[in-house]
This record gives sequence, structure tokens and C-alpha cells, in this order.
Amino acid sequence: MYTANYSFVIVICFIKVIFCDSCDNISVPVYVNRISEKIEGCINKDSFPNKIVNSIDIDCESASIQILPANFVADLNRLNELLIQGCSLKTIQPGAFFNLPKITDMDFSVNELRNIQAGVFSLIPAIKYMNLSRNFIVFVEDDAFSHLPNLEDLDLSFNRLKTLSKSWFTNTLRIEEFYVNNNEISAIPENMFAGWQQIRLINFNYNQLVNISDKVFSGTIESITFHHNLLTSINIEAFSEDISIDQFDISNNYISNLSPMLFDRITVKNFQMYGNPMECTCLYKIEQTLQKKGVNVEVPKLSNSDRNCQNVDVSVPMCGVSLKNEFCNATADDNGVISGVTKYLRELGFRDLRDWYEKCI
Ligand SMILES: *[C@@H]1O[C@H](CO)[C@@H](O)[C@H](O)[C@H]1NC(C)=O
Ligand SMILES: *[C@@H]1O[C@H](CO)[C@@H](O)[C@H](O)[C@H]1NC(C)=O
Ligand SMILES: *[C@@H]1O[C@H](CO)[C@@H](O)[C@H](O)[C@H]1NC(C)=O
Ligand SMILES: *[C@@H]1O[C@H](CO)[C@@H](O)[C@H](O)[C@H]1NC(C)=O
Repeated sequence: MYTANYSFVIVICFIKVIFCDSCDNISVPVYVNRISEKIEGCINKDSFPNKIVNSIDIDCESASIQILPANFVADLNRLNELLIQGCSLKTIQPGAFFNLPKITDMDFSVNELRNIQAGVFSLIPAIKYMNLSRNFIVFVEDDAFSHLPNLEDLDLSFNRLKTLSKSWFTNTLRIEEFYVNNNEISAIPENMFAGWQQIRLINFNYNQLVNISDKVFSGTIESITFHHNLLTSINIEAFSEDISIDQFDISNNYISNLSPMLFDRITVKNFQMYGNPMECTCLYKIEQTLQKKGVNVEVPKLSNSDRNCQNVDVSVPMCGVSLKNEFCNATADDNGVISGVTKYLRELGFRDLRDWYEKCI
């Protein structure tokens, strides 16, 4: 009997610890439709009896809110946007948002979120724009972003993600802009974007990508950028046969050999590849192939610091540098036009790569 009672108490406490965060002790200044107010407790239709609420922006300069408990924002049928930026927010519990049929914008950037659990964003079907940038997100549960049929922009940049998974996005297929730059992602899984018919922008800059799986990219895409990763080659099979990309940026990786066949498969308008340790012959061949195909090979914008050999690691092409002390000499096409890398170096005031290397490295 005694034992039974004891475990009963344990169970109650356990439930309390896990589930009993409530709005009771929340008291924060907030802009409601851009007008400053103070809220006590949860935010719902009883908080503002005589008002149509479109916008809620918690004023985090004067208060911090660490946990959003279940039903934190509920039953506001005209609410469009919820902004909780820079609040030291650590946890959003599943069910924190309930019955918000019109909400399109949510911004939780610059907080301390570590995990995104399934069920946090499951009751906001109208959501279009979600910003979770600049948190500490390391873990995302399966289905965390599932069943969001209108989600267009998702910003997960500046977090600590190491992986990505298609199972975070079941039935969320209308994403147009996808930002995961400045994380620690090392691979893009096969078919990651399959079925994302509207995707226009994919930003993987500043990650730790070492390889891209097969069948990742397809369709017509405005921008795919991977600069500052650890890629040593580009897997042709990552791209579907009919892909077309307006801006394709693979600069500042460790790519030493890029198959010109890549450009038989993909149609690219503007291409950036500087800052890779290309062998000169390979680089020259690629430039020629690209010129014939009408691809614009972009070189970094000039700045005075480049002329003084600063920023060389990020902006000067690396042709030959790591390979057998072999340097490109100036190469010109049939009309005597000096192209790509050499042209860029000439504009910086260097004779050729050897000259740049001797002065700057
Ligand atoms: C309420 O206050 C307690 C004690 O300070 C804290 O542990 C809890 O996280 C707070 N709840 C919310 C929802 O902020
Ligand atoms: C997300 O928020 C961050 C920080 O507040 C901002 O810099 C960034 O531009 C936002 N992302 C988008 C896609 O608007
Ligand atoms: C990259 O991934 C592709 C497809 O999964 C595989 O065939 C290839 O061997 C990998 N390359 C490297 C360098 O790991
Ligand atoms: C490149 O230039 C160096 C001198 O700067 C010359 O010795 C070498 O033969 C040239 N190489 C080619 C392939 O033209």
C-alpha cells in the first residue's frame, strides 16, 4: 500500500516536470498591432477582448521569455504575424500555437533554441515565412516541419545542424527559398528536394559538405550556392538531366578537378568557381567549355584590399597553387581576349598567377 502511494506521487511529479509549464508566470511587454502593451499569462482572445489582433511582437529588450508552453498563443483568428526575436528563448513546446488559422509569418531568430520537436508547428497551416536563423539548433525531430502546405521561406541559417532529412518535411512541398547556410552539414541526402516544385533558392554556404548524393537537384532553380564548403568534386549524378540554374556558386571549396561533362548536363547562366585549387589545364578547359556554352564565369569583385594581398584566401583564384608548383600563364582566346582567372589577376595588377603567388602567399 505504502509503495503504491509512493509511486503515485512519483508519477504526478514526473508529469508535472514534463508537462506542467504553463503561462502562469509569463508577464512580458509586447507590441500588439505595433502598440505597446503588457501581457500576463497566455495570449488568446480573452487577452484583448475588444481588438482584432493582426500582429504580436514580444518586446525582448525589456523581458526574456525562455519557454513557450502549450497554448501560449491560441484562438486568435486574425493573427498574421508573431515575432519573438532576441528573447533568449530556449524551448517551444508542442502545441504552443493553437488555432491560428491566418498566421503567415513567424520569426524566432536570434534565440537559444536547440531542438525543434514535432508538433511545434503542426497547427499553423497558413504559415508562409518561418525564420529560425541564429539559434543553436542541433536536433530536429522527424515531421517538425511536416504538413505546412503553404510554407514558402524557411530560414535555418546560423545554427548547428549537422544533418538534414527529408522526413522533417512530409507533405511540405511548396518551399521556394531554403536557407541552411552557416551550419555544420556534411552531406545532402538523396532526393532531399524531390517534389519541391517551387524551389528557387537553395543556400548551403559555409557548411562542411564533403559530398552531395545522387538525385538532389532538378528543375529550374534561380540560385544554388555552396561556397565555403569542403567539396573535393561535384557529383554529376546529383543533378537531373534537365536542370537549369541561373546562379551556381561552388567557389571556395577544395575542388581540384571539375568534369566539363557537368555542363553537358546542367544549363548554367552565371557560374562562380574561384577559390578552388584547380589544376591550370583543367581550369582553362573548363573556362573554354563554359565560354562556348555561353556561361558567364563570374570573378570576385575587386577591392583595394585585394590589391594589397589581403583577403587572398577568400577571393583570389587558386589555380595551381597546391599542385606541383605549376602555374598558369596568361591565356588568351582566338581574339586575344584574356579570360577568367588571368583577367581578374591582371585587373588586380598582377602579371599572372606566379606573380600573385610570389607577392601574396
Ligand atoms: C515559470 O517560472 C518557473 C520558476 O521560475 C520556471 O522554471 C518556468 O520555466 C517558468 N515558466 C515559463 C513558462 O516561463
Ligand atoms: C531571418 O532573421 C535574420 C535575423 O533576424 C535576418 O538577418 C534574416 O534576413 C531573416 N531571414 C530572411 C529569409 O528574411
Ligand atoms: C559521393 O556520393 C556519390 C553518390 O552517393 C558516390 O557515388 C561517390 O562515390 C561519393 N564520392 C565521394 C568522394 O565520397
Ligand atoms: C609560363 O611562363 C614561364 C615564365 O614565366 C615559362 O618558363 C613557361 O614555359 C611558360 N609555360 C607555358 C606552358 O607557356
